[in-house]
Amino acid sequence: MLDESIQELASRSLARIAAAATPEALEAVRVDAVGRKGVLAEISKGMGKLSPEERKRIGQVLNAAKQQLEAALDARKQEFDAFALRARLDAEWLDLTLPAPGPRRGHLHPITRIQRELEDLFVSLGFTVLDGPEVETEYYNFDALNIPPDHPARDMQDTFWLDGGNLLRTHTSPVQVRGMERLGPPLRMIAPGRVFRNESVDASHEHTFYQLEGMMIDRDVSVAHLLYFMKTLLTAIFQREVTVRLRPGYFPFVEPGFELDIQCLICGGPGCPVCKHSGWVELLPCGLVNPNVLRTSGIDPEEWGGFAFGLGLTRLVMMRYEIDDIRHLHGGDLRFLEQF
Ligand code: PHE
Repeated sequence: MLDESIQELASRSLARIAAAATPEALEAVRVDAVGRKGVLAEISKGMGKLSPEERKRIGQVLNAAKQQLEAALDARKQEFDAFALRARLDAEWLDLTLPAPGPRRGHLHPITRIQRELEDLFVSLGFTVLDGPEVETEYYNFDALNIPPDHPARDMQDTFWLDGGNLLRTHTSPVQVRGMERLGPPLRMIAPGRVFRNESVDASHEHTFYQLEGMMIDRDVSVAHLLYFMKTLLTAIFQREVTVRLRPGYFPFVEPGFELDIQCLICGGPGCPVCKHSGWVELLPCGLVNPNVLRTSGIDPEEWGGFAFGLGLTRLVMMRYEIDDIRHLHGGDLRFLEQF
């Protein structure tokens, strides 16, 4: 009787092994049939009640059934393995006669793109493009711009100081001074570049960002010239009407000084993280060059005057491409960069 049910169980398990369609299904059959809590194990647990001869005989029958099942399980598993290997080899098939895919082409970073556009624009207006060092002296970054030591305006720009008294430039304005020294008046120059401030980082602040400095020195330069160039600049950048407002702004190197704000192009006015929920973005501080600055660089303020501006290139890129977090720009995430 017991023999028969063992046979019966074994042949049922054999049928399930043959029918298992996946390695997982096969494993389930293995657990049911020969596992520690499987059917054969259950039967052997009940053998204590048998006579010693019966126990011996049934034990042999059980062992034989177990070996038969294990052999069948192994064989089926090998079939699966062979099948998986075949599938992998098929997938790995290579056509060596195909031409190789070319190297993946990159593209210019959005900041570089806008920088180059603006360089072209200003060159067409007779400006020279100048470059200056990122590691600056205190003289060029502050003193020559009418910001003497102990001047409260130094606190407006949290500075990364370097050993030996040099610093990472906090703005591109030192290139104004270098330009005046090197080229003298009349002068039309711009200076795009990277600047650094020791600020905590959030959606609209980075310790490293880009500005584009501009300066024009000539006879009889007035606020009207400044406004003309600023309007030309903004129209070229946005290629649409942008709403601007002019506020008085204080920078020791210009007098009068202004803050030119544009209405936030990301939210259109109601407020968002980029405009700090004010609806306006400070984009273009500017003003007429302070006579002290001209004098320090050897230019006679009685004869010459000028305007200067410091465009926030990073902010501008964020406005133009509607980027709502400054940290994306140098986060190195290709999914972000590939959108441009
Ligand atoms: N250098 C100033 C800044 O970064 C901006 C500025 C430039 C203001 C030129 C006026 C004229 O804060």
